[in-house]
Amino acid sequence: MIEIEVPLADRTYPVVVGEGARHRLAELVPTGARRVAVVTQESIPVVVDPGRDHRVFVMGEGETAKDLSTVEDLCSQWARWGLTRGDCVVAVGGGVVTDTAGFAAAVYHRGIAVVHVATTLLGQIDAAIGGKTGVNLAEGKNLVGSFWQPSAVLCDTEVLATLPPREYRNGLGEMAKYAFLGVDDLASLPLDEAVAACVRCKAEVVGSDEREAGRRAILNYGHTLGHALETAGAYDLRHGEAVSIGLIYAAELAHRLGRIGADRVAEHRAVVGGYDLPMNVPAGLDPDELIALFSRDKKAVDAITFVLDGPDGVEPVAVEDPALLRSAFQPLL
Ligand code: GLY
Repeated sequence: MIEIEVPLADRTYPVVVGEGARHRLAELVPTGARRVAVVTQESIPVVVDPGRDHRVFVMGEGETAKDLSTVEDLCSQWARWGLTRGDCVVAVGGGVVTDTAGFAAAVYHRGIAVVHVATTLLGQIDAAIGGKTGVNLAEGKNLVGSFWQPSAVLCDTEVLATLPPREYRNGLGEMAKYAFLGVDDLASLPLDEAVAACVRCKAEVVGSDEREAGRRAILNYGHTLGHALETAGAYDLRHGEAVSIGLIYAAELAHRLGRIGADRVAEHRAVVGGYDLPMNVPAGLDPDELIALFSRDKKAVDAITFVLDGPDGVEPVAVEDPALLRSAFQPLL
């Protein structure tokens, strides 16, 4: 079992990675909690034992269940059961569950403890770590949320074997990102160590900039085009697949800005291709439609802020020239 700390002073918490990590749950639920509300989905084949009085609350499937009505439902059910401020929520699932249950925990009684048991690769290396919680509105994804750090995160790599191949691939798109955030030789590591290496990277970044005042934005590497592809909606891509195309686009853009050489672009292609992830934009796509969506990305501050590789590593960079944005699409079409 590998244990990594997310260093946040008095809110520092452990992330436990390894086969069977879910069995550590009882010891990681805060000692004062008498009751535990376990939130999960019908489709998640993972049973947990929090070691005290607990009930399971099943939420709906998919992004559409990640909304305020689910949060209201969960909070009402918890209140009817008598869950108190000193008790604990345990979210068992992927990003939809940890984001939604995490946000419900953040607002129930003005905030109660939450432990995440991340059951997807994407959840283990990204969504469950770092305290971003939230739900979608009809107007956009993750528009309502809060920073609410968990008390602990369990990344049980044993349960990843039960993931449908497409869901696993979804996580690999986020994993590819870490190869450019300073995690070396990621593809050659055994699964436990690869997950732990990504968690270590994210923990360090979150510890240095919890509320994304600046540096935490590097965790969005590959996401500007990724989000635009998802928002455009017509393309049958999972988040991680959209991010993998976004990584290649970001490399091409950085190259055109003179920030990286052709060798580094080739490295991006080797990493993304090594995970058998897509590198081209889907056929029939209009780059101008996507460029229009870049500026609507909620992470864009002014001009169009991309996260780009360069001599000092990956960092936010404002890009103003639409011709460059268009030209960087050429190798991906
Ligand atoms: N998923 C990006 C972040 O947690 O900041």
